[in-house]
Amino acid sequence: MIYLDNAATTKPSQRAAEAMMMAVSNFGNPSSLHGLGLQTEKLINSARDNIANMLGVNSKNVYFTSGGTESNNLAIYGVANSLKRRGKRVITSTIEHPSVMESFKRLENDGYDVCYLGVDKDGIVNLDDLAGMLTEDTILVSIMHVNNETGVIQPIERISAMVREKSPYCIIHCDCVQSFGKIPVKPDKMGVDMVSISAHKIHGFKGTGALYTNYARITPLIRGGEQQNEIRPGTENVGGILAFSAAVSECEIDIEKMREKRNLMRDLLCEKLDNVKVNGSCEHNSGSVLNVSFIGIKAEILLHSLERHEIYVSTGSACSSHKPQPSHVLLAMGVEQKAVDGAIRISFSQNTTLDEIRTAAEIIAGEVSVIRRYM
Ligand SMILES: Cc1ncc(COP(=O)(O)O)c(C=O)c1O
Repeated sequence: MIYLDNAATTKPSQRAAEAMMMAVSNFGNPSSLHGLGLQTEKLINSARDNIANMLGVNSKNVYFTSGGTESNNLAIYGVANSLKRRGKRVITSTIEHPSVMESFKRLENDGYDVCYLGVDKDGIVNLDDLAGMLTEDTILVSIMHVNNETGVIQPIERISAMVREKSPYCIIHCDCVQSFGKIPVKPDKMGVDMVSISAHKIHGFKGTGALYTNYARITPLIRGGEQQNEIRPGTENVGGILAFSAAVSECEIDIEKMREKRNLMRDLLCEKLDNVKVNGSCEHNSGSVLNVSFIGIKAEILLHSLERHEIYVSTGSACSSHKPQPSHVLLAMGVEQKAVDGAIRISFSQNTTLDEIRTAAEIIAGEVSVIRRYM
């Protein structure tokens, strides 16, 4: 098997699995007052410290959630609701993950003044347009760090500098689900107040994530418990959290090594095939995702023919791949329809080898040629 769908999810690591098993013997409720509970609470706190350390932040500002989707919802709804008296303007981009997009649609229905920032052909948000959107009463800006469909890195530091200058009361949120553990994610250096992260994108388990926030007055999404300062109540997912921390300890942040993988796949495919289009900036790329269009084919047909070789890729973001809709990210970048139809996402992990890439490229090129002959 050659697994190249790491932007959808990654294989849990051995150490993450072992850490998960620790929750079997440490089964006490972290909120219980007895020793068994205290022991579990200590484990959770040290996991929190470890994750906070990776972010370079104070661990009291890290809240565990059920994943990136919940973190994004909590950040966006939590800020918008708590600051609604200060202003109604909120800003996001047209290439966000559905968990951000849908949260802003909800705000739109609730009467907020939502602005959607467009991107250029390389998939980078338009900063001139942002300047025009920022007002004194803007309360929230949410722009992602690395795009899940293209791997393009957004200029977050420049965005936050602009926001700080024009909108002094604004909270800045950044969806770092695809960047955390792959490229440096340091909220202070990036100039952001809130960061969403998720365990299963970095060899942890599905169903665990975290929200870092230096703005503590956010309105909770759920109620009924005193855990985590009531910002995210509910008994913690102990196993998932311990595994998340173990996965964080194993993260290899080496952007050049990742880019070598992406560039090798890109170069091999462009060498072996005509009419190949690479989508998204190569210069500003995390290296973990290659989005590539094979003109004249339907991506879904290719995906299934690769499956027969036990090569796993994706046609867009996993979350929307059950719907037959074209990628909103590629459309926002102005990619032509025939290139959107033939686009696949090949995504790498720190464990993907160059040999796997060479083998996969050979098979992808062969399958594309066969499909083109029949179409
Ligand atoms: C950029 C981005 N944000 C958020 C999410 C949602 O994360 P989770 O699957 O942990 O809910 C994903 C998952 O694909 C993602 O790629």
